[in-house]
Amino acid sequence: MVDPELKDIVQFDRKKPDVYGNAHPKSLLRSIMEDGEPLEKLTNQHIYSSEQFDRKTLLQLFRLAAKYEANPGRFSASLQGQILISAFYEPSTRTRLSFESAWHRLGGDIMSITDRSTTGIAKGESLSDVAEMFNNYGDCVVLRDSNEASVKEMMDSLRIPIINAGNGLDEHPTQALADLYTIFKWRPDLIEEPPENPIEICIIGMPSKMRTVRSLLKLIAKFPLSFSKVTIVANEKESAVFSKGQKEQLTAAGLNVEVTNAFSDAAKLADVVYINAIAWEGNTFKEYGAKYQLSNSSPLKPQAIILHPLARGEELCTSLDDTPHNWYFAQARGAVFLRQALLTCLVRRVERVLDII
Ligand code: CP
Repeated sequence: MVDPELKDIVQFDRKKPDVYGNAHPKSLLRSIMEDGEPLEKLTNQHIYSSEQFDRKTLLQLFRLAAKYEANPGRFSASLQGQILISAFYEPSTRTRLSFESAWHRLGGDIMSITDRSTTGIAKGESLSDVAEMFNNYGDCVVLRDSNEASVKEMMDSLRIPIINAGNGLDEHPTQALADLYTIFKWRPDLIEEPPENPIEICIIGMPSKMRTVRSLLKLIAKFPLSFSKVTIVANEKESAVFSKGQKEQLTAAGLNVEVTNAFSDAAKLADVVYINAIAWEGNTFKEYGAKYQLSNSSPLKPQAIILHPLARGEELCTSLDDTPHNWYFAQARGAVFLRQALLTCLVRRVERVLDII
């Protein structure tokens, strides 16, 4: 007889929802007319910065991601015969595994490097020579490197696409794509021009230091009418909160950006609260704004959603996990489908998944 206590521990419920709130992509899918042209243009691009996307391309990427998410089993062979080189020289749970999951789910094969010291780099090999080899061995590269310049250095020698999966303090464009995809799944009406009810977003974090925040702000700037206000909560002087020219670029794009340290006042007015406390600096991470903490007793609007790129620390209490504010798990889950959409475009397989070209 099996020990009843053990029986109890090993039992789990598959029906338990893994996301909270109405995170289903069908409304977003219905809100965007399919147009393959912007996606075809991605075939000859590396993915380096959020800056490189225009509004039309973003909407089509989100549409394709929503199509994948709405039909997860339908496209299991789109990347058959393609090889991904997954090179992560800095710790990662979500980005590496969601890229690899995305690739596997579409039927492709993967070679993974998780430590640069296992490659010729340890013997002094240049990144441009490594890139030359990547040209011969794979069809697409995903790179996370704490050295900001590495991705650009490899781009110069690559004849296959490379995706910046986080380069030091600089950018993390596919995280930002996943973030905006989540916001538009939650409120597809925000893609209207202009939307009837634009939203206020409160970002608790440092745009000058956090690559996720920097990349997200650049994407939000492509939809200035959707965001009536962007409030940055930080406990630093404004000159430290932004890097040179960063705020000016956002306001020039039409965003109404304010900085405050009044955390509760800003959070209670927001429709979307985006929180992050860590920035990867060199070979370690640094925490910012540790005093700003969200929990289920924080003064939030009843309909407000919370996003977090994760990994979380004390800034995001687990008491929020079982509340409708929790869209951070949906955000991490949706990243797989968003990355499926992007990868399909980059390796020239988009015609296999579009209904209309
Ligand atoms: N959001 C994000 O970049 O998470 P990882 O560091 O786990 O990849």
